[in-house]
Amino acid sequence: MPRTIIVSNRLPTKVQRTDDGLTFQPSEGGLATGLGSIYRQDGNVWVGWPGLFLEDATEEQYITEALGADSMAPVFLTEAEIQDYYEGFSNSTLWPTFHYFPQFATYEPAHWAAYVAVNEKFCQAVLAQAGPGDTIWVHDYQLLLLPAMLRAARPEATIGFFLHIPFPSYELLRVLPWRTELLQGLLGADLIGFHTFGYMRHFLSAVTHLLGHATTNGLIETPTRTVLVDAFPMGIDYERFVEAAAADEAVEHEEVYRQALGTSRVVLSIDRLDYTKGIAQRLLAFELLLLRYPEWVSQVSLIMVVVPSRDQVPQYAALKQEIDELVGRINSQYRTIGWNPIHYFYRSFPLEELASLYRLAEVALVTPMRDGMNLVAKEYVASKADGRGVLILSERAGAARELSDALLINPTDLVGHAEALHQALVMPAEEQAQRLEAMRALVKRYNVFSWTRLFMDQLTYSKIKQHTLATD
Ligand code: F6P
Repeated sequence: MPRTIIVSNRLPTKVQRTDDGLTFQPSEGGLATGLGSIYRQDGNVWVGWPGLFLEDATEEQYITEALGADSMAPVFLTEAEIQDYYEGFSNSTLWPTFHYFPQFATYEPAHWAAYVAVNEKFCQAVLAQAGPGDTIWVHDYQLLLLPAMLRAARPEATIGFFLHIPFPSYELLRVLPWRTELLQGLLGADLIGFHTFGYMRHFLSAVTHLLGHATTNGLIETPTRTVLVDAFPMGIDYERFVEAAAADEAVEHEEVYRQALGTSRVVLSIDRLDYTKGIAQRLLAFELLLLRYPEWVSQVSLIMVVVPSRDQVPQYAALKQEIDELVGRINSQYRTIGWNPIHYFYRSFPLEELASLYRLAEVALVTPMRDGMNLVAKEYVASKADGRGVLILSERAGAARELSDALLINPTDLVGHAEALHQALVMPAEEQAQRLEAMRALVKRYNVFSWTRLFMDQLTYSKIKQHTLATD
């Protein structure tokens, strides 16, 4: 039976070396959380990096077998590869450019060379797994060259690609010295998916301007093939979050937090450490709320979870320092013996504890400067079965296209941001329930399973379409 080979930079399981030996933990980030619910079906395999550097061949064999038993095939990367391909080209060139932070981007030929070499390494790993009838589904910006590499090796293969981050305007993309190679790499796929129509339009415009290919209704005519492009807003495993929030464990945790916080109202913020997430702006907006509405002083606390991420990349280390300083400054200025304005956690939380934070939070602040989609916004909505809670969402997150019943804000507008916080805190229960009901229906319906089905159906359709065009 044909299988699907999922390929992404990081596996949904990360292996870590501890004093007690190797541990296997779920990876952070939207991609792993989103697709984690589906890859084990039907003999599918997930190819990716397990997150650690090998010490010897015994370790390699042990990890390969352990992950293999759970439908994963590891691609091991060296420290030099991680430095140049992952921290370098992926996260210091592509990530800032695609998120509209070109001032942070570096353009190092050595990083580009490593990016090409590691994409080639992934290509070999996929070819070792994929049988002739299998479908290959490549994910995200770390592997933009992989579709064309796979196509060269297997001209008949069915290859899909999905981008989990924004695709920038042509004016941003054209700055990259390797823009043409990157677009050509993507065009090896049969179907290229984006979270929104906006990202898709940017991609089509870049293909027209830089490669000169004709595009009609999401179909790109290259000299040799036809490639289909479409928008597929990614969803979450809705029921999993509903169940986690309803579980006894979440209710008990919530009770413990509630006791500790006293009568304080709770605003929640959860992100990976990233300058695209608008964490510093969010802190400033919270400070502005206390300044403009002193009645909230000692009445509202911000629980801020920042999950460690990419701390070897200079901008991330600098941001960590900036956040530490801001939290310190605001807390030292406003705190009282019985009240802390900001409860700041720099670590990841297991799902059970996240679920209790979602239950507890009367307001969720999801205010990135740019975000491909943002699944935290959808997780919060799914967790609010009692119809109480307000989502404040940045208009620059992909999720804003769907969750229009959130309070939408522009994250650079600090006054608007602080005003939305106030509005959320005084919103009547009835309005909260109405807004949540509409959003929950949408998140329930367009979940990660329907997302996968839609993508896979379109991929099959793109093959039929190519066949028809070729025989016409
Ligand atoms: O959504 C973008 C993304 O890079 C995903 O590919 C990944 O799952 C997540 O962010 C976390 O990033 P990293 O693997 O660099 O920790």
